Amino acid sequence: MFFKQIRAGGDRNFSYIIADEVTRHAAVFDPGLTPKDELDIILREGLSLKYIINTHDHFDHTGGNSTLAQKTGAKIAMYESSHSKHDISLKDGDILYLGVIELQVFFTPGHTNDSICVLAGKELITGDTLFVGKVGGTGFGNDARQEYDSLHNKLMKLPPDTRVWPGHDYGVRSSSTIGDELKENPFILRDSFESFIELKQNWAEFKRIHGIA
Ligand SMILES: [Fe+2]
Repeated sequence: MFFKQIRAGGDRNFSYIIADEVTRHAAVFDPGLTPKDELDIILREGLSLKYIINTHDHFDHTGGNSTLAQKTGAKIAMYESSHSKHDISLKDGDILYLGVIELQVFFTPGHTNDSICVLAGKELITGDTLFVGKVGGTGFGNDARQEYDSLHNKLMKLPPDTRVWPGHDYGVRSSSTIGDELKENPFILRDSFESFIELKQNWAEFKRIHGIA
């Protein structure tokens, strides 16, 4: 499997390319506002872009969609309730194929009500649901409850060696694993929703005390 993490500008955004080595069929996840690096890689590697997949409908993740779609003919795929223009409406459990590679969709609401994560083998694209050592921004109401459930009932149930590829470079390293997040992520270590919310409410103070950037 061809896999590439790309620094996509914006707010330390990450974009990703996954491709099947035989058919060269590829997907770009969350193209940056100017998807030049993605296009360069597609050309250089002789890839055929089938899908542009957005982890959620925020402009720093979707801004390059139309440019990339126009230049490649790829279909834009997002969760079914997303408001941005898309060709394929995804639901929890859906699978898209790139040759023999299965891209499995996990509906993970919280940061937004259209957030998804996508698993390809051991590689999990987590968008703004899970970062290295952090979690996606929410308010303190039902959105936070949904995020807590998405994290604990879906993502943390995956095998510990599943690799975590976040939507932003907000952590001490650019990727992680489910096992490491279970051990180190202060939000995941909170074992009740009440203490998860308490950390969200006091995050600035927690960061200051623990020297987190
Ligand atoms: Fe976002």
